[in-house]
Amino acid sequence: MKIGVIGTGYVGIVTAAGLAEFGHRVVGTDKDADKIAKCARGVAPLYEPGLEELLHRNLESGRLTFTADVDGAIRESDVVFVCVGTPQDEGGRADMSQIEEVARAIAGNLTGYKLIVEKSTVPVRTSAWIKRVITLHSKSAQEFDIASNPEFLREGAAVGDFLRPDRIVIGVETDKARDLLCRIYERFAERLLITNIDTAELIKHASNSFLALKISYVNMIADICERTDADVEQVALGMGLDPRIGRDFLRAGIGYGGSCFPKDVKALVKIGEDLGVKMNLLRETERINQDRTPAFVEKVKRALWILKDKTIGVLGLAFKPETDDVREATSIRIIQELRREGAVLRLYDPKAMDNMRLVFPADERLVYCSDAYAVAERANAVLLVTEWEEFKALDFGRLRERMANPILIDGRNLFDPAEVRRRGFEYFSVGRK
Ligand code: UDX
Repeated sequence: MKIGVIGTGYVGIVTAAGLAEFGHRVVGTDKDADKIAKCARGVAPLYEPGLEELLHRNLESGRLTFTADVDGAIRESDVVFVCVGTPQDEGGRADMSQIEEVARAIAGNLTGYKLIVEKSTVPVRTSAWIKRVITLHSKSAQEFDIASNPEFLREGAAVGDFLRPDRIVIGVETDKARDLLCRIYERFAERLLITNIDTAELIKHASNSFLALKISYVNMIADICERTDADVEQVALGMGLDPRIGRDFLRAGIGYGGSCFPKDVKALVKIGEDLGVKMNLLRETERINQDRTPAFVEKVKRALWILKDKTIGVLGLAFKPETDDVREATSIRIIQELRREGAVLRLYDPKAMDNMRLVFPADERLVYCSDAYAVAERANAVLLVTEWEEFKALDFGRLRERMANPILIDGRNLFDPAEVRRRGFEYFSVGRK
């Protein structure tokens, strides 16, 4: 069996390399020839721990190849994983034009039976559309099946998530499709959940939206904590010790970002409302998340009063640690608001500075720094926006001596309040005294 993977974004590149690691013959393809050239040399098109090693190993074994010839890759594959982007359109719905384009390409290259597997996050009922597009555009009467196999990988932990999944959801409508996918994921037989296609598609949106809901929930509780003597870290711990609630995704902070949660919550709201379902619970989840930025900037103002011409250092730009991704990063909204207030910004991130330069090019009021200590230079306050491991080990003495005012505003509750205050900082965090 030969597997084709269309799209070499996060999901695609990890899927291609991961399936090869399972021992399958895989061809990865993308219409972006530069990306394909990089992949073929073993250079990952994005930063992800462990990905380049995985690429190298499987390129060397010959199980993994790459080609910019999308049509050719489809023709030579028995199973085609669709991993192209489904970005958000202006109305908050998922823009399905890349999926449609791939469906037409598949229709033009249906040389024999093929199983088409949706891996991109798509609205429920997408498979029916893919099927229709292929049927409309295909000149041959070749048989094909559609399946859904949503990807649950987290950026920064994507390789481990793919190689050691907690569940594999497979949505199928024929025995043939089910058997093929069971063979592909043979080694995880006990972790397979086999459903119909609509169910599999919905599991992905429902899971991501539920995690986002948990985050907004704990952020709402953090707001109560800030107005009382309660401590959100302990409230979250106390809640999380109940196995029905669980401890994960109860970290209060400045809200969720990234390429999935903001987009998927909005998309599920649209999916539900288009079907006549009231989606107020998720609308509120999103609103709470949006409100985190003004609330955080308000904290900066409470510490500094007027922000105009104040120098503010920002530690962390990526939407979370261990990634260079700044898509929908909270840092972007914070920087926008601080600039609107007239602040001078000094920024640093271990991995995401190149991507952030594309969003905010450097100028005399926005400087990219070489490290955390350079960020602190003459700063009236330093903000912790992404909880990178290296910030945990900061030398507070070195930081403090560079700052105009030793004020630290921690948006991720990374530091111990007592310790930071002992080091002479005025310290503000989220939902803690
Ligand atoms: C998420 C899902 O976890 C993954 O299963 C899905 O496939 C894609 O979407 P990802 O976007 O990579 O993965 O990151 P994740 O680790 O889930 O974090 C998302 C955002 O939530 C980050 O901005 C993070 O800072 C924030 N977050 C997470 C919190 O604010 N609090 C938490 O407790 C957890």
